[in-house]
Amino acid sequence: MTLPRFIALIPAAGVGSRMGTAMPKQYAPLAGKPMIQHVMQTFSDSPLIDAVYVVVNRRYEYIARLPDFPRTRLLRCGGETRQQSVINGLRAIEAEVDVDDWVLVHDAARPGLDHDLIEKLIAFVRDDPVGGLLAVPVVDTIKRSDGHSHAEQTVPREQLWAAQTPQMFRHAQLLSALQSSQSITDEASAFERMGLKPRLVEGSPRNFKVTLPEDRLLAELYLKGRA
Ligand code: CTP
Ligand code: MG
Repeated sequence: MTLPRFIALIPAAGVGSRMGTAMPKQYAPLAGKPMIQHVMQTFSDSPLIDAVYVVVNRRYEYIARLPDFPRTRLLRCGGETRQQSVINGLRAIEAEVDVDDWVLVHDAARPGLDHDLIEKLIAFVRDDPVGGLLAVPVVDTIKRSDGHSHAEQTVPREQLWAAQTPQMFRHAQLLSALQSSQSITDEASAFERMGLKPRLVEGSPRNFKVTLPEDRLLAELYLKGRA
């Protein structure tokens, strides 16, 4: 029996509409290099990760400018949604992975991921029957609006976590869970819909998703502070 391997799958085929730049945000420079290169480097350097796959959109010319990283391959099979990009990536690697290999799906737009977080996630999840994800406990007081910009209710935050990535599940189970779910924004929700409970592993605010123009400055501060 061979031990399961740990594979990184990075969906990077979005357009970055909320960032509002002409170039998709993951290819725009951040702290000295295209944003996506930060996580490609982190995974490629990780002694725990066996292979890295990046799902890109075949239409983008920016891909040609990315350098080669060891054990890393681009998959030109981006889909219309994040969910579809991940499904296409999982299908593209089906022949080269084992059904029980762990896949760590990580957003190209979270450049703050580091080796300690990868190590922690793997340590907590590798023996879990379902899988798990990095997430952070919500710190703000949360309001539910009436739909018209007025607070209707304060939602107790004790059990609320904000999901991050990587989200780590076994290849075959992940592919089948994603294929049988409609419109989900992360991997874990596909398992939740089947009544399963992915493990929540505390991540870090530094691993936030660069989404709005204001986020770039904060991401650069974090990345420069780390270098
Ligand atoms: N993604 C993808 N394929 C898509 C949409 C998104 O691979 N069709 C990827 C993005 O490239 C990103 C990650 O999924 O790395 C998280 O998505 P998000 O931050 O929402 O990026 P975009 O969808 O590009 O941005 P926006 O929602 O603002 O358009
Ligand atoms: Mg999106």
